[in-house]
Amino acid sequence: MRIISIMNQKGGCGKTTTAINLSAFLAEFGKKILLIDLDPQGHSTAGFNIKEGMIEQGLFDVFTKQASLEDIIKLQVYKGLDVAPTTVRLSAVEQYLSGTFERERQLRYHIERLKSPFEYDFIIIDCPPHLGLLVFNALMASSEVIVPIEPSSFSMQGIDKLLETIDLLKENAHHFLKVMALPTVYNHHSHFSRDILKQIFDKFQDLALKTVIRQNVKLKEAAQKGWPISVYDRNSFGAEDYRNLALEVIQQDEPAFIWSDQGSKEEVNEEANEPSFVETSAQEKGEEGRVENIMVVVQPSQGENETAGQTESLPEEKKFDSNAQEQS
Ligand SMILES: Nc1ncnc2c1ncn2[C@@H]1O[C@H](COP(=O)(O)OP(=O)(O)OP(=O)(O)O)[C@@H](O)[C@H]1O
Ligand SMILES: [Mg+2]
Repeated sequence: MRIISIMNQKGGCGKTTTAINLSAFLAEFGKKILLIDLDPQGHSTAGFNIKEGMIEQGLFDVFTKQASLEDIIKLQVYKGLDVAPTTVRLSAVEQYLSGTFERERQLRYHIERLKSPFEYDFIIIDCPPHLGLLVFNALMASSEVIVPIEPSSFSMQGIDKLLETIDLLKENAHHFLKVMALPTVYNHHSHFSRDILKQIFDKFQDLALKTVIRQNVKLKEAAQKGWPISVYDRNSFGAEDYRNLALEVIQQDEPAFIWSDQGSKEEVNEEANEPSFVETSAQEKGEEGRVENIMVVVQPSQGENETAGQTESLPEEKKFDSNAQEQS
């Protein structure tokens, strides 16, 4: 199983668009996907047309131990794709978590407890636009991070802070993350766009993904409908780009490199980063228990798309203070 956080503390850079459409195309390629909506704004939840009224329990209830992750998962919102939805109540969870033991590892514990038949090839985590405890939970649960970067005046400014945060996890929590930069909302007619793309490639070098997501209004329209682009307009540029991104991600090896301070690559101690997920046998992979939550939400009408656990605890002094990292 690969767990990928879609993270950038900058707002509006395409995190949710990437989480939804990467998940949908990974599922189309036959992968079993869980999309965790870790943003209290709930845009990934809405992006699959899951309305607040349909959510009896969400991630807030998981973090506050009133539900397990399995309890809240909406099954088959799209073929092969399950969603762990959220509501705005999740915004209160950071305060709740701040007094909790191993507060940065709670999501990881919940993921480790997923049992058959909740088995996934990929878990994609849509992060909120700030560096708080929710994001630390996402990072501690992940082995890879995709950082969407859109061409805007401030888009490169927060990147150093973001990379510092990832280094902090490496130094203080011995948690290794493979970082991948994803240029988004790219407009090749714009000099500014081309300049930012060059800055991304210069900074990240071979940690920049080869796929570039072009600006495409169909992606915006699809989000408004509550459909992935693969359903809304599968012949659009947006669909082509996210299909290519899914292929690129599938074709990658499991993470073998990490970001380092010097901008160079160094090999990860894979054992240190190996999540302790329990393998289950083929016989255990029944469908029992999955039926109740099954939803088929994404149903375009004809023609509408034509136009378009327990981890070893660290000594107290080794723990980083994630509250100190908060930044709006
Ligand atoms: N490639 C694209 N082309 C055109 N519009 C896009 C593209 N990617 C994203 N958008 C639009 O830009 C807006 C912001 O995108 P999105 O919600 O994915 O960003 P975000 O990083 O998740 O934002 P937030 O930080 O608020 O969570 C949305 O209206 C979305 O439809
Ligand atoms: Mg978002």
